[in-house]
Amino acid sequence: MKHGILIIALVAGMMASCGNAQKENVMNENVALENLKTRRAIRAYQDKMPDMKLIEQVTEAGTYAPTGMGRQSPIIVAVTDKATRDRLSQLNAAVMGGENDPFYGAPVVLVVLADREVPTYLYDGALVMGNLLNAAHAVGLGSCWIHRAKEVFDSEEGKALLKEWGIEGNYEGIGNCILGYPAGDAPAPKPRKADYVRFVK
Ligand SMILES: Cc1cc2nc3c(=O)[nH]c(=O)nc-3n(C[C@H](O)[C@H](O)[C@H](O)COP(=O)(O)O)c2cc1C
Repeated sequence: MKHGILIIALVAGMMASCGNAQKENVMNENVALENLKTRRAIRAYQDKMPDMKLIEQVTEAGTYAPTGMGRQSPIIVAVTDKATRDRLSQLNAAVMGGENDPFYGAPVVLVVLADREVPTYLYDGALVMGNLLNAAHAVGLGSCWIHRAKEVFDSEEGKALLKEWGIEGNYEGIGNCILGYPAGDAPAPKPRKADYVRFVK
């Protein structure tokens, strides 16, 4: 009987110390912070369309970005149609005077536009882009901000696309978040500059 009590006490002690170790792990390896730190710009993609469910999870995360006065000035256009994706790629490349695919073969483009009538639209749109990039990483997809959305949607061809998509109003292209399954390993991050954070205590 004495042995029985001793064994129970030992097992209980082991479980308690295991619980503490888990708690420490959670504190040292916060999943959300780890996700922010390990996301990288991905510039090579597999020729495989991600599951629609994953794309929806990413776009939903985008809609939860903070916006000035909560006015939700941005919109996200999720392009999975290959012909439209290729058209956007051509228009984007043309801004640089080139023909190479600026979307690095990614099958999905999430175009973020924001309503110029809202004073905080640029900040709002950039935060939506940030959410999309980080959410993509969280669900195992690669992503990269591809610029020149402003030039594309200020052009006549870009305006025609907006009309085709039924988007009316004074929208500015903020960025394109390309999405897909990464091909190969993510690049290592550049070291952070020494004076990035300055504490005033
Ligand atoms: C405003 C902005 C515009 C960007 N435009 C492009 C682009 O047009 N093409 C590209 O390959 N990467 C683009 N990037 C991705 C950056 O080059 C990338 O985030 C940077 O090199 C840091 O790498 P990391 O995201 O892996 O930390 C852009 C990023 C931002 C924030």
